Amino acid sequence: MTTQVERIRLAIIGCGRFARFFVPLFKAHPAVEKVWVCDLIRERAEEYSRQFGVDIMDSFEAALGSDRVNAVAIFTQRFKHGPMVIEALKAGKHVYSAVPCAIDIDDIRAIEKLVRETRLTYSMGETGFYRGPAVFCREEYAKGTFGRFTYGEAHYNHDIRNMEESFRSSGGEDWRKYAGIPPLYYPTHSTSMVLSAMPGVYAKKAVALGYARSPRTDIFGRDGQNLYDNPFANTAMLLELSNGGIARISENRCVGWKAPETYISQFYGDNGGYEFSVARHSLATWRPDDPHKVVMKDVTRLLQPEEVYSRITGDYEAAIQEIADGAGFYSACPIQPVDRLPEAFRGMANGHNGTHHFLVDDFCRACQTGKLSPTNIWQVARWNIPGLMAHQSAMEGGRVLDVIDLGDPPADWDVLDWKK
Ligand SMILES: NC(=O)c1ccc[n+]([C@@H]2O[C@H](COP(=O)([O-])OP(=O)(O)OC[C@H]3O[C@@H](n4cnc5c(N)ncnc54)[C@H](O)[C@@H]3O)[C@@H](O)[C@H]2O)c1
Repeated sequence: MTTQVERIRLAIIGCGRFARFFVPLFKAHPAVEKVWVCDLIRERAEEYSRQFGVDIMDSFEAALGSDRVNAVAIFTQRFKHGPMVIEALKAGKHVYSAVPCAIDIDDIRAIEKLVRETRLTYSMGETGFYRGPAVFCREEYAKGTFGRFTYGEAHYNHDIRNMEESFRSSGGEDWRKYAGIPPLYYPTHSTSMVLSAMPGVYAKKAVALGYARSPRTDIFGRDGQNLYDNPFANTAMLLELSNGGIARISENRCVGWKAPETYISQFYGDNGGYEFSVARHSLATWRPDDPHKVVMKDVTRLLQPEEVYSRITGDYEAAIQEIADGAGFYSACPIQPVDRLPEAFRGMANGHNGTHHFLVDDFCRACQTGKLSPTNIWQVARWNIPGLMAHQSAMEGGRVLDVIDLGDPPADWDVLDWKK
């Protein structure tokens, strides 16, 4: 059965703070014939409609019921993704979903089952997969530079003070109840960075501890502050991976840090290691002629946009302040394969370190070719489920849990090449 579509007719569901970065890209993509926008709050859809010159779809249900729509892009609040994706797949639509996949493992299972049965496209907009450090570690791992993976760390540091606006935007007076979502219910930015470097590798065991003393007792706590009975502002999990390596993933919402916010700090193999600190990226490999020493390389030039690199090599102190203030956030870096992107995207606004263009393009290419997006449901399940389980581990004071794995994609379903 093939579910390829020649031309994508897409309804974008949710006209909040984030989707506005994507409407122009979907509109400009050569595979897209038509874009609608839709929001429960009509004025938001109207504002998008005026700003981007697109028609309004009256409701999510209307989009699902319309023969003219063959795909939907879900940009609603994070707890809504799972159930909405399930409905969309049942209605026969291709689906792009903002992160996370779902906050309930049963929803992830249901999405996997539906995608397997229908062969529709499901692509989650995971920026972590396309960020420079993930691309770099993936490429060097494939070349064998690291040897056997031993240990890695990735982080998503986003203090709640800089997330408030986002939760307020649709949460109304109750926004704190949503803002208190367990940090590990949103683990995919960081898990994807380490795991995507090693195709086919997944978490087998997870154990986590949480930080329950955030001063934001209005948001994190177990006295009804939030919908999840969640006391943790920060949670760190240790994963034992299927290749025997260990990964530490930390999700921090109470942290004296701003940017970069999503990064791999360490990625070590028995033969080589990558490290990142604030602005500088380094690669070490054992010296062939002297097995007790390493060759150290600064690989920052590949992993920072040109405008950031030139600042770092000038006044470093000023440069790291500029990075903390957002320099480079909208630009790609040399290691990202931007030449494969549609000509129409050239010069268009980007975001999250040059990743938005890849997210839109890979969803559209998946719909058009019938191949799996690199951020397909099998891959995404391996990034999302460990976090959902590890939150439970933290709630139990650090119990070691066997992680549920939904397996590899079907053998007869090719995955798009993210490089070409
Ligand atoms: N780096 C990233 O990948 C990244 C960054 C920011 C946001 N996000 C994700 O994007 C999503 C949206 O974030 P946001 O800040 O725009 O949220 P938001 O609250 O500003 O917007 C969500 C919108 O969805 C609308 N909505 C909810 N249910 C609907 C329905 N049934 N039909 C139509 N509209 C509906 C709401 O009215 C609201 O306008 C979140 O899930 C977030 O996790 C991801």
